[in-house]
Amino acid sequence: MEQSYHTPVLLKETVAALNIIPDGTYVDCTFGGGGHSKAILEKLGNNGKLIAFDQDEDARSNIPKDPRIIFEPHNFRHLHRFLKLHTITAVDGILADLGVSSHQFDEGERGFSTRFDAPLDMRMDQRQTLTAADVINNYTEQQLHKLFEQYGEVTNSKTLAKTIVELRNVQPMKSIDAFKQSLRGVVKGNPNRYFAQVFQALRIEVNDELGALKEMLQQIPPLLKPGCRAAIITFHSLEDRLVKNFFRRGTFEETEENPFIMTKSVNELKVITKKPIEPANEEMKRNPRARSAKLRVAEKVMMV
Ligand SMILES: C[S@@+](CC[C@H](N)C(=O)[O-])C[C@H]1O[C@@H](n2cnc3c(N)ncnc32)[C@H](O)[C@@H]1O
Repeated sequence: MEQSYHTPVLLKETVAALNIIPDGTYVDCTFGGGGHSKAILEKLGNNGKLIAFDQDEDARSNIPKDPRIIFEPHNFRHLHRFLKLHTITAVDGILADLGVSSHQFDEGERGFSTRFDAPLDMRMDQRQTLTAADVINNYTEQQLHKLFEQYGEVTNSKTLAKTIVELRNVQPMKSIDAFKQSLRGVVKGNPNRYFAQVFQALRIEVNDELGALKEMLQQIPPLLKPGCRAAIITFHSLEDRLVKNFFRRGTFEETEENPFIMTKSVNELKVITKKPIEPANEEMKRNPRARSAKLRVAEKVMMV
């Protein structure tokens, strides 16, 4: 395994939370550099199984030669479908460590990082057609405004969206340097921080990160065996809110008390982490990327 591919975050905490049993079947939705998967495999016996998903083909090079692991190079939004292909209908634990890997940031030509000049790409899955350049050059001003505001919390998102539309009408934006250069005039505060927020918003949109997370969360209750757990690590407040609310309510609907509705939705999940688990100071010092990590854990109830 390539050492510098990615340093796993909240490793001990996540593996402990999963209560791994040696003969169990587990899913790692976000294999990446395989740090979490490796720790799960260490706890599994000869009959244990691990199904690892990653939509980035680069992750495949980290798969260990181990008959207990199956790699599915697909989006975790198709969890149920691919498990079914392996005749797996229920599992003993599910892990997801969301967002991008250090490898994806460090490979300049992938377009995730503001540090390099490269095409405005940002696709985790290279089979997908939509790129960051498509979003920048084709979305309406209102769509751009919304995504910079919601996904990047960019303070002047309206001005940014308006300026992009004016500039792209003169010349479509294709590269990271050209994009950053042409927007110098709208930057508020520290340019590195500003563009980090802009890039985060574009990345979330290009990869439909919130849409995929919602679809994956909804597949957790039917897939987990009773008494078994799901552990999700998030790095963004919008993701964390989705996980928190879904674990609490078992739905994304705002459930209001309505006396005329007789059927109440049943939550098959029990929250294990009332407050999210965050990295200790020592981990944050060692791995600054861990700073915004939040781990939430839920357990499928024995009987509803
Ligand atoms: C933070 S890294 C995971 C690191 C991993 N836990 C480790 O220990 O190395 C996230 C990985 O998940 C993948 N990923 C993100 N969203 C995904 C999705 N919707 N479906 C499949 N893979 C996804 C990314 O390509 C990336 O490799």
